[in-house]
Amino acid sequence: MMNKLVSADIEAYAQAHSMPESDLCRALREETQRRMEAPQMIVGPLEGAFLKMMTQLVQATSVLEIGMFTGYSALCFAEAMPAGGTVITCEVDEASAALARQYFARSPIGKKIEVRMGLALETMQDLKGPFDLIFIDADKINYVNYFRRSLDLLSPQGVILIDNVLWDGDVLKQPPPDEKTAAIQELNRTVSSDPLVSAVLVTIRDGVLVVRRKT
Ligand SMILES: C[S@@+](CC[C@H](N)C(=O)[O-])C[C@H]1O[C@@H](n2cnc3c(N)ncnc32)[C@H](O)[C@@H]1O
Repeated sequence: MMNKLVSADIEAYAQAHSMPESDLCRALREETQRRMEAPQMIVGPLEGAFLKMMTQLVQATSVLEIGMFTGYSALCFAEAMPAGGTVITCEVDEASAALARQYFARSPIGKKIEVRMGLALETMQDLKGPFDLIFIDADKINYVNYFRRSLDLLSPQGVILIDNVLWDGDVLKQPPPDEKTAAIQELNRTVSSDPLVSAVLVTIRDGVLVVRRKT
């Protein structure tokens, strides 16, 4: 699954002409590839650079992430934020979180990251916000629920980024082949028909939906 939408050559070219990943991110990515069963879940260097750029453009000082895995994208956000910035990141899997914590402890930048274990929807219920950037990258079945709750938690000029919205091209299939595909199609319909938000579906990697409130 994934990465068949953009050719490997084009991906490499785009990556070579984008900001490089940090040494810490590279080490984490390589260890995730060696040790974890599904390392392709990491956003990777090119989408990581995109997340950093969005963080800087929004001048985010507070980020919420749904789906930390081994912490690669959380590190990208933390690296792009000024001192004093905070990343709250949600995860259910202890083994993934253990590896993430090891890497967060290797750099002062890791101190910006707060890990919240448990189901992200429940964690979100207890959060107050506002967040300048919210990245949704877990549990596709609940994508619409995460989107709706994110709107409550978003700062006025904030941005919501939602990953894997092309789902390896399966979003084109009718009827949808499974419930995850159906959930992602519903999310894309919900966002694009919401009169209160503006969105652009960026065809980077597996598709990232960029959403902000209309002003
Ligand atoms: C695609 S991975 C996240 C990748 C990460 N953003 C990165 O780029 O390194 C999704 C993660 O979400 C976690 N997850 C799945 N369902 C969840 C839920 N309901 N609440 C919180 N985390 C969840 C999984 O354990 C998995 O580690």
